Amino acid sequence: MSKKCVFVTGGAGYIGSHCCVELLQADYDVVAIDNFANSRHTGAGEAPALKRVEEITSKKLTFYQCDLLDAEKVNAIFDKHQIDYVIHFAAIKAVGESMQFPLLYYKNNVIGTINLVEAMKAHNVYHMVFSSSCCVYGDPEHLPITEDHPTGNVTNVYGRTKYLIEEMLKDLTHAEPKWNIISLRYFNPVGAHPSGRIGEDPTKNFTNLMPYIAQVALGNKPHINVFGGDYNTPDGTGVRDYIHIMDLASGHVAALNKLSQEHFRYKTYNLGTGEGVSVKQLAAMFERVTGRPVPCLVQPRRLGDIVSMFANASRARQELGWTAQRSLEDMCRDMWRWQTMNPRGYQDDCDAGAAATTGQAALAKAAAVTNGVANGVSNGVSGH
Ligand code: NAD
Ligand code: UD1
Repeated sequence: MSKKCVFVTGGAGYIGSHCCVELLQADYDVVAIDNFANSRHTGAGEAPALKRVEEITSKKLTFYQCDLLDAEKVNAIFDKHQIDYVIHFAAIKAVGESMQFPLLYYKNNVIGTINLVEAMKAHNVYHMVFSSSCCVYGDPEHLPITEDHPTGNVTNVYGRTKYLIEEMLKDLTHAEPKWNIISLRYFNPVGAHPSGRIGEDPTKNFTNLMPYIAQVALGNKPHINVFGGDYNTPDGTGVRDYIHIMDLASGHVAALNKLSQEHFRYKTYNLGTGEGVSVKQLAAMFERVTGRPVPCLVQPRRLGDIVSMFANASRARQELGWTAQRSLEDMCRDMWRWQTMNPRGYQDDCDAGAAATTGQAALAKAAAVTNGVANGVSNGVSGH
């Protein structure tokens, strides 16, 4: 039987790159795109994260530098490949930035998705997994959160784009029965691939807790600022459902299996562990795993913060046959391995790529001069 091919948007990003490992290992062909809005690239338009994915898996994937807002290019890629499934990670996700630049967020996330589903339809591809977020639930009315908890009471623009896209996809599947779409609502993905070769390396500033804790453990920051110490939680600090990035990635393979077996038009699944962990508990586990101090300084509450959020993940267990396998200790250990092995993230690969590109250009120029060819030498290297 021929291999199935998955089109992955935002493949160079944190979750996309880890998911590509799982897809290749599950024997899918992968065609990935990214516009590098929040991921590193070499001067040659390649994604170092995905080069490392190829090393980890000893398999090849196809990558294109492409923006979802460029509908023509997206369609041209669909023309070239026989796509069976789409996993749609590409989005911008910085909550603070989304409040400052709402149109940028609606345009990129919502119009990008419209372009994608239009290209899919034009190429007879109707199976998609969409990256949604637990933030669509807003402030929880009950815990743990089940998928039938009301959605839409979202307090920021980023979260609203996720909610709007979910509603749009639901409407689409109601109107056109061919569609089969799963929205995966992620809780708080953390950690890295256990090899330490790939991990989170955003180009935009970010303020999530786990990367901040790692900076403290590295000695780059004196302490973490704990946003609120008087919440109604066991130790007074905020509670979240942290999930290992490789568990999250394997949830996507489980979702593709489901899409291939059943036609249900539209479904939502929580991807979380079901365990609530407080800020202080996470800091303490990081200290234990790394042997480095992570001092906690309690600060005022963060505006608009949610007190506690954790999943009821039983629908995914029952219907996808998926459960998170890795512990909080694994999350901290793997995060630390990535951080200490790659203090500059993928920057070294980018620098090496730039040096190689410059070197090739110099060689080509020298050859052109030798051959008496006029100026106008290209570097001869390009991504797709
Ligand atoms: P990420 O920023 O690391 O990855 C997203 C990738 O999409 C980036 O590489 C970015 O360059 C790319 N991208 C953005 N806009 C694009 C466009 N118009 N065309 C092509 N590529 C584009 O983020 P991530 O953490 O890997 O998140 C992946 C998805 O999961 C996103 O949709 C995000 O909203 C969602 N999500 C993430 C989290 C989290 O905590 N990381 C939680 C819930 C949901
Ligand atoms: C954030 C995003 C959310 C996104 C989620 C997963 C906001 C408002 N929300 O939520 O949209 O889906 O990440 O990526 O940014 N904390 C501290 N000190 C810090 C940082 C965080 O005490 O320096 C606390 C927070 O108050 C919270 C917990 O740590 O209790 C986790 O915070 P964070 O990592 O920002 O994730 P979320 O708040 O879940």
